[in-house]
Amino acid sequence: MCGIVGYIGNREATEVLIEGLSRLEYRGYDSAGIAVYDNGEVNVRKYKGRLNVLAEHLKQDSLAGSIGIGHTRWATHGEPSDRNAHPHTNEEGNIAVIHNGIIENYMKIKEWLIEEKGIEFKSDTDTEVIAHLIDHYYEGDLMKAVYQAIEKMEGAYAIGVIAKSEPDKVIAVRKDSPLIVGLGEGENFIASDIPALLKYTRKMHLIENDEVVLLTKDGVKIFNELGQEMDREVFNVTWDADAAEKEGYEHFMIKEIHEQPKGISETLMRRLDKEDNIVLDGIKLTNEDLENINKIYIVACGTAYHAGLVGRFAIEKFAKIPVEVDVASEFRYRDPFIDEKTLFIAVSQSGETLDTLAALREAKRKGARILSIVNVVGSSVARESHDVFYTWAGPEIAVASTKAYTTQLTAFYMLALHMATIKGNMDREQYLQILKELKTMPEKAQSLLKDFAEIQHQAAGHFNNESVFFMGRGVDVHVAHEASLKLKEISYINSFAIAAGELKHGTIALIEKGTLVVALATQDRLYDKMLSNIQEVRARGAYVVAVAKEGNKEIEKTADVVLYIPDTMDELSPILSIIPLQLFAYYVAVARGTDVDKPKNLAKSVTVE
Ligand code: F6R
Repeated sequence: MCGIVGYIGNREATEVLIEGLSRLEYRGYDSAGIAVYDNGEVNVRKYKGRLNVLAEHLKQDSLAGSIGIGHTRWATHGEPSDRNAHPHTNEEGNIAVIHNGIIENYMKIKEWLIEEKGIEFKSDTDTEVIAHLIDHYYEGDLMKAVYQAIEKMEGAYAIGVIAKSEPDKVIAVRKDSPLIVGLGEGENFIASDIPALLKYTRKMHLIENDEVVLLTKDGVKIFNELGQEMDREVFNVTWDADAAEKEGYEHFMIKEIHEQPKGISETLMRRLDKEDNIVLDGIKLTNEDLENINKIYIVACGTAYHAGLVGRFAIEKFAKIPVEVDVASEFRYRDPFIDEKTLFIAVSQSGETLDTLAALREAKRKGARILSIVNVVGSSVARESHDVFYTWAGPEIAVASTKAYTTQLTAFYMLALHMATIKGNMDREQYLQILKELKTMPEKAQSLLKDFAEIQHQAAGHFNNESVFFMGRGVDVHVAHEASLKLKEISYINSFAIAAGELKHGTIALIEKGTLVVALATQDRLYDKMLSNIQEVRARGAYVVAVAKEGNKEIEKTADVVLYIPDTMDELSPILSIIPLQLFAYYVAVARGTDVDKPKNLAKSVTVE
């Protein structure tokens, strides 16, 4: 996910592009750049880091001109760096391209361009091939060259192109990545999203898949893939930029909760080949390395640590390798037994959490092989690891982690299945059966996001509680911990999670009339035991909201309310059971009027110990 903007008119393009990009930073923020045409030259400025790094450079080294394109990047191919930042150009630097999406066959095109034309690539990105391809086909008609180039490109993309030889136009193309056009008087715009342009216009054209746009100062033409001109109505935007950035959701957190089916699907499907084998692209850990591994440490903080607890469960169950899980801030202080047969798995959304980094460095120093599960491409944890399994959640803006967590779980299930196969601890039939179920997760997660009236109702009834207890057995305990963290961090309610079997060893003393207990009961083999635990707390006056699998009607007799998740294998239920509880935390926080996306005292990336 990246953000793109383009402009042609009479204003200074730089100002328009920077303003537009500032509204798109939520789509990616590891580097930013612009290309502006002026006086016979296409000038490019691009830097690693947030948009303000680019803006600061431009203060010293401004770019004049009133035609340009801009980009804010979320790295997919190639680490965040100046050279991988967009725009990318052809060899002479007279065609510049910005791109949001992925060119799936870029390696093939790249090899062809190197062999045929001896092109020296300046970046590791898939995008750079587009600039060279357009250049390759250019014979005095930019539009024609763009059409020829996209015919060769497979994948998803929204691109913007400017060229020195035709400085009166911006060309844009959409295929499976968002693109809109903004209409002005003597000026026109393109962008990934409406918010980028609202400062300048509320009149838009929504571009459809496979359409090509020709933008000039005085007009906009839209063509289909056959080159036929299309009519398009003007869309008048009535909402404000803040709402638009969140795509109509009130907060980033709820938007990100809804993005989970997509994140899970991307994390999974991008690593499966046609025969349903897990392909760990970019991971150098060989089968032989894995065979030699006899112990795994999973180390992380907060939500990522909770994902690690589920990860341990999956790896021990499927691959039968012993796993220890540690909170990163404690790991270094207990002299863990590590040698070259140890695999250390760091889990981090941001990839910048200092505690996790410090633990990783310690494990590396002691000879462990380091594999990280990271969301932000090119982050410190990723760079310092031997191997990286990237989650495909896209940028997570809300401080409370939701979509990063469910994609981390997906990554763990895939790793566990892969290890199980290599270690010879799972036959093909079993592997395919679990994988088949894993592939249903996006759809099942989606079904949980359709109707949550009951969750809202419960949130409305309990938002004034002083404390809430979460309990579960088996892998449900880990979900209980994550659900409890979600609730406390955004609502400031004192919440607490416990293994249900531990209740009677102390915590049950706190249960009194009206205490809210959220009981996870999704594990078939522990179901009856959970029913007993629910009865124990209800007997002391607790109000019990249970989470159970569809079809388990029995629980309705015991709990006050049941939130159902779709039926699934016990092992995979954590991906689903957290979703109603993320929603519960969210609606409780909204009812309490807290700053949901930026809870007090918390930061998205914790770079201090
Ligand atoms: C909770 C939350 C935090 C993070 C933790 C680790 O919702 O977001 O607990 O999970 O600070 O952060 P990363 O994953 O970036 O290392």
